Amino acid sequence: MRFSGKTVVVLGGNSGIGLAAAKAFQAEGARVAVTGRNEATLAAVAAEHGLLALRADVADVAATRSALQRIQQELGNIDVLFANAGVGGFATMDQVTESFWDEVHSVNLRGIFFAVQSAAPLMNDGGAVVITGSIGSVLPLAGNAVYAAAKAGLRAAARILGVELLPRKIRVNLMSPGPTDTEIFRRDTTPEQQAAMLEMMRNNVPMKRVAEPEEMARAVLFLASSDASYINGVDLFVDGGCVEL
Ligand SMILES: NC(=O)c1ccc[n+]([C@@H]2O[C@H](COP(=O)([O-])OP(=O)(O)OC[C@H]3O[C@@H](n4cnc5c(N)ncnc54)[C@H](OP(=O)(O)O)[C@@H]3O)[C@@H](O)[C@H]2O)c1
Repeated sequence: MRFSGKTVVVLGGNSGIGLAAAKAFQAEGARVAVTGRNEATLAAVAAEHGLLALRADVADVAATRSALQRIQQELGNIDVLFANAGVGGFATMDQVTESFWDEVHSVNLRGIFFAVQSAAPLMNDGGAVVITGSIGSVLPLAGNAVYAAAKAGLRAAARILGVELLPRKIRVNLMSPGPTDTEIFRRDTTPEQQAAMLEMMRNNVPMKRVAEPEEMARAVLFLASSDASYINGVDLFVDGGCVEL
């Protein structure tokens, strides 16, 4: 019950890693609010788990700020912000369009930055911010330049946010997943493409398997908890050895 009496916000908490983390935070005593875009999965999360679930596109800075303010009004000052919302997408250099670049960066980098900016005044001193990065930010995978640049930018920004939040004793860390079996690979793809993608990822991981979202959630809860009280500014790769082995 590491989060008993705490208020936790999961941006992008109605699917995949975010949903696994939201459930785990709740199981450890937190009051949890999630945001996302999909009305149906938000409603399902609210109904099944009793979480406060709000629709807010993270690319819409004002909408996300309003959602965070409403969460603070309903659940109290925020202790943990898990800034997890993100979109995927592969395109080789010749395929990249300006709209594709803007779509990915408006969510994965710009949106997350402004969400942390909006949440900070609503947080208790001594709280924690965990941001979902990606091993893509350091591994040179063909077709991943746009996503990688956004996540690498997030990593750079997070370190500086961590410095700026030092006076308030709010720690800022990244949790960077390796290949994890979530909806991100099932959006806009055929079952055949999904199977091929999972097989390719499995083969590329030193541990020869993809992760379950709960394995990411456990790392997020660790970084957000007092177990990680002296950990600040790190980018924790939870990746079956992809980066280091
Ligand atoms: N799965 C992996 O292998 C992997 C690897 C490295 C990094 N990541 C990162 O992990 C994070 C979570 O992804 P996932 O794998 O759990 O995929 P997922 O199941 O597709 O979940 C993505 C979450 O982000 C939300 N989201 C996306 N765009 C949003 C927007 N514009 N505004 C608000 N919420 C938005 C989604 O909500 P809606 O469904 O309502 O849109 C959903 O809750 C992402 O940041 C992703 O980049 C994943």
